[in-house]
Amino acid sequence: MIPAGLYTAARFAIILGTVISLFAALPLSKSRGSHALQKEEHQPQQKPNDATQFGVNAYVGSKVCVQCHAPIASKYSRTDMGRSMSEITASLLENIPNSASLVDERLQKHFDLYVEDGKLFQSEYEKSPDGEEVFRETHEVNWIIGSGANGFGALLKRSDFLFEAPLSFYSKTKSWALSPGYEFGDYGFNRPILPGCITCHSGQPRAVLDGNGRFLEPPFHELAIGCENCHGPGAAHVHEMQEGDSNEATNSPTHSIVNPAKLKPWLADNICMSCHQTGDAMVLRPGKDYRDFKPGMPLDDTLAIFMVPPRRDSPQTDLLEHYFSMALSKCYRSSGGRLSCITCHDPHVEPPKQEAPAEFRAKCLECHNEKSCALPVAVRQHKTPPDDCAGCHMPKRQVQTIAHAVLTNHRIVAQAEEPYPDAAFHMASPQTPDLVHLTAIPGTQGDAISPLLLLQAYEQLMIPNPEYRGRYFALAKQLESTNPTNAHVLEALAALALEQKDDGKAIETLSAAVKNGSTSPQTYEQLGTFLVRAKRFSEALRVLESGIKLLPYDAMLHQLLGISYLSVGKNDEARGLLRQAVQAFPQDRALRQLLRNSEGKSTPTNP
Ligand code: HEC
Ligand code: HEC
Ligand code: HEC
Ligand code: HEC
Ligand code: HEC
Ligand code: HEC
Ligand code: HEC
Repeated sequence: MIPAGLYTAARFAIILGTVISLFAALPLSKSRGSHALQKEEHQPQQKPNDATQFGVNAYVGSKVCVQCHAPIASKYSRTDMGRSMSEITASLLENIPNSASLVDERLQKHFDLYVEDGKLFQSEYEKSPDGEEVFRETHEVNWIIGSGANGFGALLKRSDFLFEAPLSFYSKTKSWALSPGYEFGDYGFNRPILPGCITCHSGQPRAVLDGNGRFLEPPFHELAIGCENCHGPGAAHVHEMQEGDSNEATNSPTHSIVNPAKLKPWLADNICMSCHQTGDAMVLRPGKDYRDFKPGMPLDDTLAIFMVPPRRDSPQTDLLEHYFSMALSKCYRSSGGRLSCITCHDPHVEPPKQEAPAEFRAKCLECHNEKSCALPVAVRQHKTPPDDCAGCHMPKRQVQTIAHAVLTNHRIVAQAEEPYPDAAFHMASPQTPDLVHLTAIPGTQGDAISPLLLLQAYEQLMIPNPEYRGRYFALAKQLESTNPTNAHVLEALAALALEQKDDGKAIETLSAAVKNGSTSPQTYEQLGTFLVRAKRFSEALRVLESGIKLLPYDAMLHQLLGISYLSVGKNDEARGLLRQAVQAFPQDRALRQLLRNSEGKSTPTNP
């Protein structure tokens, strides 16, 4: 017997609730894991871009640069960026705490971390009240993400997908604990690493756009952030320099490579912003992939970054991101765009703690002098460290967790607790007063933002900012006639139908979104849920079977498919699927229960 509970509306409310809470819990993943525009992108194919590997615009990898720039490479390899990702090696294992064991009371799960034969493993398990293990799932960790400045996470590969492991290391407490996000639920070893996430942390990842965690083989051409992330593809430069030794005439003034110091400051900032400024919404331009951005080009051609405009009545925190914060500083606003990230930072070196105050002070003095400060020099000299300009004007705060947040206040305030300058409230354009377009090319700030781009920005924004819901829906209605086959438009119309409790329309628009190339887990999960709820099982089977092909690590699709098979009496299929699913998602209690139910059904021969 299948408990009635599994089929009731309450059950689906829970399922739907899970969808919605997952949706809310992963704004970052959602925002940087946008949808397919072309069907072929579902397949782990070599993207055309990879062809640049072999042309003049080819990436050659930092190892090649080392041959001629050894001193820079050696300094750079000690910075956090130079160590942003690592392979598991014997020396790494010696340098990180490599055993841990913890229980999470809320999830009622146990977690272990240990080293065996030079390999790092994590396991998750559950104990029944009598102490028996209900399940145990163990995976080898393949990479570490993060230098450890605040902490690091653990990544693993299963078939051609990459996942985050449940335990991360937190430098502040010097301990392993549940990874950020696991406070919302137990993702087990099934939390995919999306293209947007890895793009910021790795030199040359090969994540499939809209692949929901799918990667090409090998998954990385370059593991840690490398020279070409800031200097662009280096093949032409290497070629020229090799020839140039004998033929000086071929030397161009830029040596055929981007030197950020020779770019306009905003273009140099665009390089840093691609990873250091998430804003509230990041939207890829139609047809673009993250890797289409190359240093020296406007970031906005590839990726548009938007922010909710600050309001006078909203809290004026300084938990702002580096670029936005810097842009609000008087130094930036009064220097005619001369101040840029690289005015103060040489990304090849991280000044040691003791030297940092003097080094940054020297940068301030490129524009100020000793007397610029209202506080007398003698008073400033008496502090330790002496006359630390940044220490007083760019105060630091403490962080406890691996948060994507700034530690040092880049608003360069005269006084702590200083209110935002007036300029902060005039950053949006009259055309789109509800959004700041952070990546707008200087001089084009007032230009209209294309409605499709705006729709995607609203889609990301409205989760944490419900005041955007109305505009999101209104824009979707407007685009319904002009872009009726756009997956984002269809998903927006589905969200509207969901809000209006119009299940028929929700099914219709979600189906159309799937037909038009959506690869979004939410779309498949919601469509599956609605079809099952409407008892349209044969359609549900089709949708869920194709959904699982696309999203083999989505437990909920397996759950819905199991229910659908059982509902149409395909008990063998149900059992087969659920056995596999319980292996793949052992932490999922609902799936275990469903399997037991299906096995209960499996004994027609027994009297
Ligand atoms: C065959 C030797 C060689 C290789 C390999 C090489 N470079 Fe260079 N690079 C040079 C020389 C020589 C110069 C010009 C002299 C200088 O400034 O040191 C130069 C200059 C540069 C500059 C300054 C350009 C300017 O106009 O200011 C950058 C940036 C640079 N290289 C980056 C790289 C990167 C990144 C790589 C790897 C993709 C690389 N180089 C590989 C030899 C090389
Ligand atoms: C490919 C993405 C990427 C780009 C491009 C990038 N950063 Fe970073 N940066 C990171 C990540 C990720 C970290 C944190 C690394 C860690 O601790 O694991 C970081 C850390 C830093 C830090 C702190 C620690 C250190 O290494 O000094 C500074 C400062 C910094 N970046 C400045 C810059 C500047 C300036 C630029 C532009 C010239 C820039 N970054 C470009 C991703 C990037
Ligand atoms: C927009 C770029 C961006 C995205 C997307 C992003 N990160 Fe980060 N991450 C950073 C930067 C930059 C830092 C360094 C802290 C800072 O200055 O904000 C960082 C810090 C971290 C750290 C701490 C590193 C250290 O040394 O302290 C970890 C771990 C981390 N990120 C993991 C992730 C994971 C996992 C994802 C995907 C789910 C992700 N990040 C998404 C840019 C990004
Ligand atoms: C996070 C961004 C970033 C990374 C990564 C990076 N650079 Fe640079 N590089 C810069 C910036 C910014 C400048 C300009 C510095 C200045 O002059 O203020 C620069 C300048 C240079 C120059 C010319 C000026 C000089 O200092 O000689 C060379 C050569 C160079 N980089 C080589 C490399 C090599 C080799 C690597 C990899 C080992 C590398 N860079 C990694 C940002 C980066
Ligand atoms: C590119 C040039 C430039 C650099 C570099 C620079 N500033 Fe400024 N800063 C300015 C200008 C211009 C002003 C506005 C005129 C003024 O008040 O002197 C300003 C204003 C200030 C103010 C007054 C802020 C206010 O709200 O009244 C402080 C404080 C300040 N700077 C501190 C610093 C510190 C500390 C550093 C180094 C960490 C620094 N600046 C680096 C150009 C710069
Ligand atoms: C006026 C100087 C100045 C400018 C401009 C500046 N920074 Fe910083 N930045 C600092 C100082 C000072 C620190 C603290 C460094 C330390 O204590 O070692 C810092 C720290 C950082 C860190 C380490 C994390 C943190 O918040 O402490 C990152 C990442 C960073 N800056 C990125 C950027 C980026 C990206 C830009 C451009 C958008 C930028 N910075 C512009 C002075 C500057
Ligand atoms: C011990 C802390 C401290 C140090 C170190 C310090 N300042 Fe200040 N600074 C102050 C205070 C306090 C004020 C006055 C703020 C106010 O009341 O407006 C100030 C004001 C300023 C102003 C605004 C002046 C004005 O007329 O409005 C500038 C610019 C400035 N400082 C730059 C610097 C620079 C550059 C350095 C390093 C050479 C520096 N400060 C070092 C504390 C410090």
